[in-house]
Amino acid sequence: MNNTVLIVGSGGQLGSDMVKVFRKEQYAVEEIDFPSIDISDRESVRKAIAKTRPSYIINCAAFTAVDDCETKQETAYAINAKGPENLALTAEETGSLLVHISTDYVFDGTKITPYVETDAPNPLTVYGKSKLEGERLVAQSCSRHQIFRIAWLYGLHGNNFVKAIRNAAVKKISSGEPLKVVNDQFGTPTYTVEVCRQILKCINSGNHGIFHCTSEGWCSWYDFAREILSKSGIDVKVVPCTTEDFPRPAPRPRYSVLENARLKGLGLNIFPEWKVAFENYLDEEKNS
Ligand SMILES: NC(=O)c1ccc[n+]([C@@H]2O[C@H](COP(=O)([O-])OP(=O)(O)OC[C@H]3O[C@@H](n4cnc5c(N)ncnc54)[C@H](OP(=O)(O)O)[C@@H]3O)[C@@H](O)[C@H]2O)c1
Repeated sequence: MNNTVLIVGSGGQLGSDMVKVFRKEQYAVEEIDFPSIDISDRESVRKAIAKTRPSYIINCAAFTAVDDCETKQETAYAINAKGPENLALTAEETGSLLVHISTDYVFDGTKITPYVETDAPNPLTVYGKSKLEGERLVAQSCSRHQIFRIAWLYGLHGNNFVKAIRNAAVKKISSGEPLKVVNDQFGTPTYTVEVCRQILKCINSGNHGIFHCTSEGWCSWYDFAREILSKSGIDVKVVPCTTEDFPRPAPRPRYSVLENARLKGLGLNIFPEWKVAFENYLDEEKNS
């Protein structure tokens, strides 16, 4: 095998940083994204993989619009379930390791202690169900697979909570109103670059299966918003509110804190606390 890594979904929030992080190491990185590849189409996947014959395939592609998935069920399953299956079947043919990204939304959020990899999933939404089916099909179709469940992702690229809350705060300053942020949903903000570094550490470990893969600690969206605004020097009144104040088409799990139990058990976990990770993100932002 060679040291080629094919990063699928390379233009997305996570994919962009995956390309950057792997390029800094000893890997030959090939990147591909829609429409050069359509993961829901087996032939398109076969062609892309035949061209590069990668030792590693990292799938960062997905249909991530959680609310839209409720009305676009067929598309959600085509991209989030059939897509990973196509990659897994092809990886099995070529002997590649398939790294696949999944989500905390496979859980219903009714637990009150962090979810470990052996907890039973019970997704509440079409997005969560389609991602869970993707996990199942990857595990069934490819013997060498690693599935990383991540959560509350932010980074320099794409849309995320950090950018949304800063924009919302600036608007509230102009209108003189306070900014309301949900304070009854709990999770762990996780910085893209640290997910990439964690995957980099794992891909040659010889371990397969599911790994929880988030920063340490947890908070509410309200706590995270306050941290973002204070560290960004944005002075706006922030008030806590409930999930019911912001009804959305797809219900979010109330509590989706993940424990990196397997990574810790294997001595592989390198995630810092979420507040330390956010400082790391701010450093990257300053230097970008
Ligand atoms: N964002 C989060 O908070 C979060 C939380 C937990 C888990 N995750 C998981 O993390 C992974 C990365 O998320 P992200 O935020 O980086 O997503 P993203 O920014 O939406 O990027 C997804 C990428 O996939 C591409 N794509 C969509 N349909 C495709 C298809 N049929 N074939 C090939 N590529 C396709 C998109 O291309 P276009 O832009 O052209 O559509 C985009 O470049 C996903 O598996 C997601 O489920 C994300």
